[in-house]
Amino acid sequence: MKKILFAASECVPFAKTGGLADVVGSLPQYFNKEDYDVRVVMPKYLCIPEHFRSQMTYIHHFYMYFNGRNRYVGILKLEYQGITYYFIDNEEYYSGSVPYSDYFYDLEKFSFFSKAVLSILPSIDFQPDIIHCHDWHTGLIPVYLKNEFASDLFYTSIKTVITIHNLRFQGTWSIPEIKRMTGLSDSLFTSDKLEAYQDANFLKGGIVYADYVTTVSETYVEEVKTPFFGEKLDKLLWARSNCFCGILNGIDYREYDPAHDNQIYQTFDAKTFRNRKTKNKSALQKELGLEENPKTFLIGIVSRMTDQKGFDLIERVLDEILSQDVVQFAVLGTGDTHYEDMFRGFAARYPGKLSANIYYSEALSHRIYAGCDAFLMPSLFEPCGLSQLMALRYGTLPIVRETGGLKDTIEPYNEFANTGTGFSFANYNAHEMMATLRYAEHIFYDQKRRWNQMVERAMKKDFSWEASARKYEKLYDNL
Ligand code: ADP
Ligand code: GLC
Repeated sequence: MKKILFAASECVPFAKTGGLADVVGSLPQYFNKEDYDVRVVMPKYLCIPEHFRSQMTYIHHFYMYFNGRNRYVGILKLEYQGITYYFIDNEEYYSGSVPYSDYFYDLEKFSFFSKAVLSILPSIDFQPDIIHCHDWHTGLIPVYLKNEFASDLFYTSIKTVITIHNLRFQGTWSIPEIKRMTGLSDSLFTSDKLEAYQDANFLKGGIVYADYVTTVSETYVEEVKTPFFGEKLDKLLWARSNCFCGILNGIDYREYDPAHDNQIYQTFDAKTFRNRKTKNKSALQKELGLEENPKTFLIGIVSRMTDQKGFDLIERVLDEILSQDVVQFAVLGTGDTHYEDMFRGFAARYPGKLSANIYYSEALSHRIYAGCDAFLMPSLFEPCGLSQLMALRYGTLPIVRETGGLKDTIEPYNEFANTGTGFSFANYNAHEMMATLRYAEHIFYDQKRRWNQMVERAMKKDFSWEASARKYEKLYDNL
């Protein structure tokens, strides 16, 4: 039995701000249980729903020296859907109303977490063969492991993998402060280790010290080795090419299943969507105050509102689209105030045509995936993207820019061969996006049979974890 420990800052159903939580919460379920014992460790945030917190069992606690003093490390455990989860407890660090807070404080919270993950291992009766780290929050785990913990025999055979879900976020701060906080030795803060552009960089530390690096789509692997996508780490990633690969994310097909989803108005599948999906659309229009007409082309957006997601393109041309076309938009998301206000503005100017829901709601996200005709995701960059996979699963055709995982998962409609599962454009250009959206609109209105055939193909696509989990198994075996 191989023992794997996932370490991450968020995980469904306990805490989620984006796709990282979906991945960490669903991938462990898909390993071959006979050969792989995959467990997860994350912080015990106060914002984890009370019904989960009250079910956790206390295992042990101790004090760990970190940032100038001995600090409490509590360990709790919970079995959930066949997976063992460990939670690291420290109320000083993890009692916020959301997982992340002020940037500098997050650096402290997650370096504490990284050291604590290693420190708890002798007490949990689980000596992993591999620690699988996710994103910058856990970047210091491989660093601590290969340095501070290296002389302890317990740790010498443990290997590490780090998965980059988003290279933009690296966890950087001035070297003297990070040195003081983490207690890592001076010799580690050099340009071949943790230092990048005069600062200490957690993700870089992870990339340098992990035995293997992965990211979440094959296209993104190639993109990040170039200056545009590389976020100043492109040369390092290039240098690590031999130990760096892309494994596409999947989604949880049990959670996102239109045939058994109790959060949508009417369940449906690839055979029944022609009648039943429309009922979801009508109900969604009603719920969101959109003009109730099942024939109108309805486009969904569910997203963190950041420039990564291509909102600048939308800002440039949405007035033109909303004033000239017979379309509606159902928008759900939170993030940069600028984009939140932009959508509030569109909703005010085009009542009945655009509904701006500036909050977080799992339930509404399911109803948008189920009720819309198309799903717009014109990202500037997209390591993988899960929303477009959710949209496919609910027969809502994605309109995407050809970058990262969007390129790897959405096959553009080819009207000559009658193939494809969505619509895509290449350049980060608002008018290219608008032309693609209008092309989709034209197929929807004028070639309904073709549209429905595409919906059927989209719903039959398999982006569950099955294939990708096998690739992770192989990677663990090789290590
Ligand atoms: P990212 O991780 O970059 O935000 P992904 O497409 O990988 O993008 O994953 C986004 C996840 O977050 C999806 O599960 C999506 O449904 C969800 N999501 C984003 N914003 C909201 C929101 N406001 N309410 C509910 N779910 C949301
Ligand atoms: C990041 C990326 C997104 C990816 C997700 C899960 O948040 O922005 O593209 O799908 O992580 O890997």
